[in-house]
Formats: sequence, structure tokens, C-alpha cells
Amino acid sequence: MLQIRNVTRRFGKHVAVDRVALEIPAGQMVGVIGRSGAGKSTLLRMINRLAEPSEGSIFFDGKEVSTLRGAALRHWQRDCAMIFQQFNLVPRLDVLTNVLLGRLNHRSTVLSMLKVFSDDERMQAVVALERLGIEQTAMQRAGTLSGGQQQRVAICRALMQQPKMILADEPIASLDPLNAKIVMDALRDINREAGLTVITNLHTLDTARAYCTRIVGMAAGRVVFDGKPHELTAAAVREIYGSDSAGAGIDETITSTSIGNGIKVPGPAAPRDKVSAAREMATSSV
Ligand SMILES: Nc1ncnc2c1ncn2[C@@H]1O[C@H](COP(=O)(O)OP(=O)(O)O)[C@@H](O)[C@H]1O
Ligand SMILES: [Mg+2]
Repeated sequence: MLQIRNVTRRFGKHVAVDRVALEIPAGQMVGVIGRSGAGKSTLLRMINRLAEPSEGSIFFDGKEVSTLRGAALRHWQRDCAMIFQQFNLVPRLDVLTNVLLGRLNHRSTVLSMLKVFSDDERMQAVVALERLGIEQTAMQRAGTLSGGQQQRVAICRALMQQPKMILADEPIASLDPLNAKIVMDALRDINREAGLTVITNLHTLDTARAYCTRIVGMAAGRVVFDGKPHELTAAAVREIYGSDSAGAGIDETITSTSIGNGIKVPGPAAPRDKVSAAREMATSSV
């Protein structure tokens, strides 16, 4: 059980996350939705401590994780594997090595630096690649793969951490509809088969409805909806996405990646500045 207790995050005077309280029992597949700037990434990053709360605390299985330091913090970051919109692989390394990097937090620094992995770990990596249907790419440089394949490699790397939770920050925002479906199917299978909690930020409503057992809607840093997909009424959607989606009724295509539709193409991914991309690379747990 993950407990987020009245967590606030400020950047200067700006409140990015505003007194968020959530309890997430093990095994849920939670979609966090909301406009760009609603605070979704900041919330996710505070869970795995890529960002620190200004106020409030976060507990996992009764233990406070928002104050961990040193080795205990590294263990926690291993327990909640993170998946990013831009995959964050090492492009010049082969796929197998990228997957094995998920083991780094399990190993001594020297072995990590030498990238020495056991046969058992290599086997686990291959099994993960098979599970995601990309074992044939194992020896290719990660940078040569398509976006959809790269995100599957990132999921394999996350699985190698043997995490208790997977945190995914807009994992399909850079993908075409077919690859988006493959990646979301993979996350759902992992959730169902391994019972792993998955918390994923999505800026598209239809994906959250299709895949998640629980939807959390954020607006201006606050949780304005928390319920099952069928409870997400037009009024709730208006509250999440703002009143300008009211007028002619809710047009879900505005917030759609059209998974499974095959006609529409996704809108452009939210632009990311180089600084935040670099920060993610630098602080990513691999
Ligand atoms: N490192 C940062 N420095 C300053 N402001 C930030 C930083 N990270 C996020 N913000 C601000 O916090 C708010 C929430 O951002 P974010 O969590 O990225 O939202 P979302 O993921 O929902 O798009 C935004 O207004 C954003 O500009
Ligand atoms: Mg974001």
C-alpha cells in the first residue's frame, strides 16, 4: 500500500502539487490524467524521490519513504521502477546491456562500473525481452530501435529491478497508436500477471479508460477526481480538463491517442526542454 499524505510541492511561489492525499493498495493499475502542467510528473517524481515534497509525507507498506537517505533510498528507487516518455536508454549500448543496467542497484559499485553480470542475470534479461517480444533486438544498439521498441526495452530494464511498483510518466506520449497499444498492453499484462502496482501518467482520457482500474484526475496540482473509469462523468472530465471543454459537450478526441482506432494520429508530444530531459537522465535510478 502506497500512502501519499497531504503532499505539496512548490517551485518558488508556484504550487505544482497541492495537498494531494491518495492511498493506492498493491496491485492497482492507476492512470493519472490531467492537462499539461497539472502536476502529474511532479507527483510521480516525488513518489520515487526524483523530487522532494515541500510538505507532507509518503509511506509504503507502513514505512516512510519520503525521508530515506543513502542505501535505503537506493533500495526504494529500485522498488519503484520509473519509465519515461523519452525512454532514457543509453543509445550506444546494446539492448541486452541496457536491460541489464536495471540490475545496477542490486550490485556493488565496482561490479556495476565494470558492467559484470552473471549468466543468471543475462538469462533474466533475455526472458524479459522475450516477454516483450523484442528478443531479436538483443545485440542491436538501443539507439537504432524504433520508439516503440525502445520503450519496451525500458520496460524490460524496469522489470530487471524486480520492482514492487512501476511508475510510468507518459510512456506512450511519443509513440504512434500501434506502438502505444503494444506498450500499454505490456504494462497491463505486467500488472495482471505479476500483480505489480502500475501508476501511469497519461494525458489521454481514452487510454486511461481502456487500461486503468482507477483514474486519478488532477487540475492545478490538486486531485479533482478519484474513481473507477465508469464513474468519470462529463462533469468530472470538465473539472479535470477545464471549462473550455464544456461548450459543445466533451470531445474525447481532444484528449485521445486513438488507441485501436487506427484512423487518427496522435497529437504532437508535449515539448520537453533540454534541461528537464537532462535532469531525468542524471537522476534516473540507472
Ligand atoms: N523543476 C521545476 N522548476 C520549476 N517549475 C517546475 C519544475 N517542474 C515542474 N514545474 C512546474 O510545476 C507545474 C507542474 O508540472 P508537471 O508536474 O510537470 O505537470 P504535468 O506533468 O502534469 O504536465 C508546472 O507549472 C511546471 O511548470
Ligand atoms: Mg508531465
